[in-house]
Amino acid sequence: MTLRLAILASGRGSNLQAILDAIAVGTLDAQVVGVFSDQPAAQALHRVPAPLRWSRRVKDFANREAFDTALADAIATVAPDWIVCAGYMRILGAAFVERFPARILNIHPSLLPKYKGLHTHQRALEAGDGEHGASVHLVNAELDGGAVLAQARVPVLPGDDAESLAARVLKVEHPLYVEVLRMLAAGRLGEQDGQPLLDGHPAYTPLRLEFAHS
Ligand code: GRF
Repeated sequence: MTLRLAILASGRGSNLQAILDAIAVGTLDAQVVGVFSDQPAAQALHRVPAPLRWSRRVKDFANREAFDTALADAIATVAPDWIVCAGYMRILGAAFVERFPARILNIHPSLLPKYKGLHTHQRALEAGDGEHGASVHLVNAELDGGAVLAQARVPVLPGDDAESLAARVLKVEHPLYVEVLRMLAAGRLGEQDGQPLLDGHPAYTPLRLEFAHS
């Protein structure tokens, strides 16, 4: 089944590009049916043809809920199988999340449940962690709180700063997101009532995937 993907992005869009590249070379059976942004200048928007772009400024709406409703309405018109947050820097409100139950994914640059929220690389360094990584999780109304489907790990190396660590994590984010989408397309990964399923059975711990990071 060709997955219809609606991508939400606020910035650079390198995760989006990894998804587009995998589709282009035929390793991911999916179609990006729209890129949606709260930042009209986001680089991510320019990675797809103009008819697939949607962007609005939150400040042009009466409140955050009104923005979320406009975003949700626009997404609904492209009938996605999955809404894929890829560097989308706003919290999705409860009404938005409830409108697309168990159909929203996010990639977060930490080994959740560690370091929800911002500055994950700096926080991993300050904690003296020996490893760090990225998680792909289902989105619920709690920030970075939905069930984790899969994770990829990288070592924290002597001399790392937040920038070098972020770059190492980003290297595994791209294949991690693509692999999760591939497994969803193939029906190997799924969910039931917020519980991840692997090959049809409940998966109580995140799938650990290994990727090159240097
Ligand atoms: C990634 O590190 C992602 O995990 C985080 O924001 C960054 C987005 O990067 N949520 P990009 O826009 O996909 O290049």
